[in-house]
Amino acid sequence: MKEIIITSKVAVFEAIQELPLADQDLMLKAVEVRKNAYAPYSKFRVGAAILLDNGKIVVGSNQENAAYPSGLCAERVAIFQAGAIYPEATILKIAITAASDENETDTPIPPCGACRQSIAEYEIRQFTPIEIFYMGETGQIHQSASIKNLLPFMFEKKYFKKT
Ligand code: THU
Repeated sequence: MKEIIITSKVAVFEAIQELPLADQDLMLKAVEVRKNAYAPYSKFRVGAAILLDNGKIVVGSNQENAAYPSGLCAERVAIFQAGAIYPEATILKIAITAASDENETDTPIPPCGACRQSIAEYEIRQFTPIEIFYMGETGQIHQSASIKNLLPFMFEKKYFKKT
């Protein structure tokens, strides 16, 4: 018997002001679009901003539905929109922020499993890593250089597709 040990690395920033200027701007775009969340059920608002290699920023916020599973997370609203509008562009970075109407979120809030899987699809498709920043409403920010840190042992097309 052998064991496989996988390590994950994230950088920790104390506040938005500690980020490089361009990354501050991206996170502030995520904060701004968080206000557009349609979250009457969870009262949990998430904003995501994606920077593409063509300089465009594409944003998304969570959109809920009375039939709960029909809603969609902010990260997937943003990344599917990026894929729909700029299919040739490479995704460089995604900044994510989550806030609750009911309690203060002061720790970094990582994307859910389904969003990690969706981010992984685009990272694999474009052959270059997607940098991920995530935070709550206040407090520290985590930065991962690739989705691989957040989704070890990821499921991907190589397991069932030859090319
Ligand atoms: N949500 C996101 O937008 N992103 C995540 O990564 C986790 C959860 C949304 C979905 C739902 O509208 C609300 O947050 C509560 O789960």
